[in-house]
Amino acid sequence: MSQPSKLVIVVGSVREGRFGPVVASWVAEQATAHGSFDIEVVDLAEFEIPLSLPAASPKYAGATYPRPAGMATLTARFDAADAFVLVTPEYNHSYPASLKAAIDWHFTQWTAKPVAFVSYGGAAGGRHAVLHLENVLTELHAVTIRDGLAFPNYFVTWDAGQPADPDAPGYAKTMFNQLAWWAAALRKARAEAPYPD
Ligand SMILES: Cc1cc2nc3c(=O)[nH]c(=O)nc-3n(C[C@H](O)[C@H](O)[C@H](O)COP(=O)(O)O)c2cc1C
Repeated sequence: MSQPSKLVIVVGSVREGRFGPVVASWVAEQATAHGSFDIEVVDLAEFEIPLSLPAASPKYAGATYPRPAGMATLTARFDAADAFVLVTPEYNHSYPASLKAAIDWHFTQWTAKPVAFVSYGGAAGGRHAVLHLENVLTELHAVTIRDGLAFPNYFVTWDAGQPADPDAPGYAKTMFNQLAWWAAALRKARAEAPYPD
């Protein structure tokens, strides 16, 4: 049997009283049930992620990019990942600054890797956040996954850590089917030949 892909599930919000960890925990349960992944939940609130960036570009500096000591574990997790799920709320029709900062401190860590999205929020359910993330991740040479999950008005559509929609696990399975396929395909491709600039 082939080695399971390393999946990193990112909790994108760091707000006091946030709902993000509840969604991420359910996503991790669904990923475990899928059975294709070694799973790591990465909570951005646990790392030092300054808004001020170094002068150098993370794209060209590679391993010499001067990141803060408190970011080292985050970078190592991103480096090791074969696939990502970004769990994001919607803030003012986009995604939170915490997630943008974590993305911008890295470059090669995203390249030629698949990224899926699970969003939540008010009426829009995070769809603006995901549209923006898709754009940003294309710049980083990531591959965005078509199927994801969006939870509008989560405060009335979730109960006891679970979405009320009985179809939600099925949607998650579809997302993980696609993510697992891309994770294995791109891991093989990265091992065979360096990704072109
Ligand atoms: C600054 C801010 C802006 C928000 N803007 C939107 C928005 O544009 N669309 C939306 O659907 N929900 C919006 N919301 C509601 C959030 O999606 C909701 O509060 C969610 O719980 C935030 O995620 P968190 O609890 O993990 O921080 C906003 C919330 C905040 C704090």
